[in-house]
This record gives sequence, structure tokens and C-alpha cells, in this order.
Amino acid sequence: MASSMRTQFMLALVSAALLLCSAQGQLSPKFYARSCPRLEHIVRSTMAQAVRSEPRMAASILRLFFHDCFVNGCDASILLDDTATFTGEKNAFPNRNSARGYEVIDAIKSNVEAACQATVSCADILALAARDGVSLLGGPKWAVQLGRRDATTASQSDANSNLPAPSSSLSDLVSAFAAKGLSARDMTALSGAHTIGQTHCANFRSHIYADINIDPGFASLRQQSCPSAGGDDNLSPLDLQTPNRFDNRYYRNLVAKKGLLHSDQELFNNGTQDGLVRMYSVNGKAFAMDFAAAMVKMGAISPLTGTSGQIRLNCRTVN
Ligand code: HEM
Repeated sequence: MASSMRTQFMLALVSAALLLCSAQGQLSPKFYARSCPRLEHIVRSTMAQAVRSEPRMAASILRLFFHDCFVNGCDASILLDDTATFTGEKNAFPNRNSARGYEVIDAIKSNVEAACQATVSCADILALAARDGVSLLGGPKWAVQLGRRDATTASQSDANSNLPAPSSSLSDLVSAFAAKGLSARDMTALSGAHTIGQTHCANFRSHIYADINIDPGFASLRQQSCPSAGGDDNLSPLDLQTPNRFDNRYYRNLVAKKGLLHSDQELFNNGTQDGLVRMYSVNGKAFAMDFAAAMVKMGAISPLTGTSGQIRLNCRTVN
């Protein structure tokens, strides 16, 4: 990289980090303490019901939060429905036929509206629901920073370009997260989200048929539910052994070359993250702490605060 480009890149990184710090400064865990004191209880009990009837829902909501925050900040833009005159993010390539859980956010929102009308943003509901899903499946709990407001716009093209693809290399992943002010360590910790949830065959086919950094027994086992042609929509757990438990098994799988997505195995493939992956694979507490801290950082990406945006009454539409 030429030195002026390198300087520009470093400046961009520094300003992304500064943005994150100042955003975190405007949010507070006590934002609704007076205006909606039962908020956390309402979100948790609705999530508990949803996760009881389908444990995967915790994973789906966690992913919705990631896909919201990475596209112009945590502003609930992902929740806006397409209409004849509005193109949202739901049909962007990484979300279409894949992002799910919208009905659960609707249910939480209507319970919250019944208790505190026009007070709590959809963006904050998503941040709380993501945390609760993780802790309901045995993962860490953290204080969620609150006070985000909801976007009145969305960007399908930014959703297509800002969300990392499963074909990403390690350097692609590091840069996608750096562009949001998140470090390589944050990226590796946040990827541990793949200890829960499911993926479509189309997203891991090339890894189990064509990559060489994969345990051969594991590849043939996974090929049984993901044929080399067809079956694109077949679902498979990202963590085969404990798909409904938020633990550090994901990293043990990576060390055993049993990562399911190409991008997962990139974190342990003779690269800069190998040491951290090995550490998380034996130290579940360190993973839980780093994951929680990185979730707080991710949740502070470019929030709308003050009088920007609005408090949507229905998460699917602008007021
Ligand atoms: C590091 C870059 C990442 C890539 C390339 C990636 C890619 C993917 C892909 C391709 C799927 C499967 C989608 C499908 O087949 O329908 C998936 C699922 C999932 N991702 Fe990621 N992801 C990344 C990071 C993250 C992060 C940071 C989080 C949250 C903190 C996350 C949470 C999830 C969860 C929980 C699922 C399962 C969702 C469900 O079962 O509904 N991912 N991811």
C-alpha cells in the first residue's frame, strides 16, 4: 500500500473508532428506567416464550441484530418491509430467504407498546432481544446500552456490500469489521455466534466439496445432508454437536478443522487469529467475556440519538 493510502486507511480506522466511542457515550443502560421500567422484563419474557417453542429463534434474532448494525448502524433499518415505493434490506442477498425472526420482534414490540406507548425504539428492542436470546441458550449476559432511535430509510445496496460473505478470506473479514470500528479480536469473538443456529447448504457447499483445510470425515458427514448439486435450501446446524447451546464448541470445531462455513475455518487456517481461536477453544469464560464486550461495541455502531430518526410505532413501517 502506498504510504498516503496507508495514512488514509489509518485515519478512516481512527475515525471509525472515535465514532464508536462517542456513540457509546450517548447511550445508557438506564435510558428507559423512568419511561418504561418494565421494558427488560417484557422483552425477556417474550423472548423466553419464543425460544422455548423454537430454540433456533435465539440465533435468528442475534443475526438480525448483526445485520442491522453492519448496515448504516443499529437503527432497525433491517426491519422495514419492502413496499411498492420503498426498497428495504430484507431482500438484500445476505438476508433474502435467510434472515428471520421478524414476527418475534413484532410480538415484543406490541407487548412493549401496550405498556409504554411510542417510547421504545425497535432498534433498542432488537439489541435487548439479541442479548436475551444468547443468555437463554446459556451464553453470557451484559448490560445493553439503550437510547437508539429508528431509521426512516434503509439501503439494500449497503446491505449487499457491507455484510461479509461466507466465501470471505480472513483479510476480507478483518477489513469488513475494521470498517465498522471493530478489531480482529472483536471479529473472532463475534464469530462465536456461530455456536448456535443453522445455515443453508448453498452457503457451505464449496467448503465441504472443494476446500482442503477441512477434516475429511467431517466433510463427508456434512455432504450427506448437502449434495454437490441441488438441495440449496437444506439446513444444517453451524455447530453440529450443540446447536442450541451458546458455548465455546464453535472454536473447538475450528481447531479440529470442523468449521462449516469457509469464512469460519478462515479464523483457524495458519493465520493471525489461530492463537485466539485456540485460547477460546479451551477457555469458555474468556470467550464469553470477549463476546459480551464485542456485542456492546457492535451495538454502538452509528446509532441515531437525540432527535434524529423516530420511535417507530410498527417496526415494519416508517410512521
Ligand atoms: C464474520 C463474518 C460472518 C459471516 C461471513 C457470516 C455468515 C453467515 C451465514 C452465511 C449464515 C447462514 C445463513 C443461511 O444459510 O441462511 C450465518 C448464520 C448465522 N450468523 Fe453469521 N456470519 C458472520 C458473522 C456473524 C456475527 C458477527 C454474528 C452475530 C454476532 C452472526 C450470527 C449468526 C447466527 C446466529 C446465525 C444462525 C442464524 C439462524 O439460525 O437463523 N454471524 N452467518
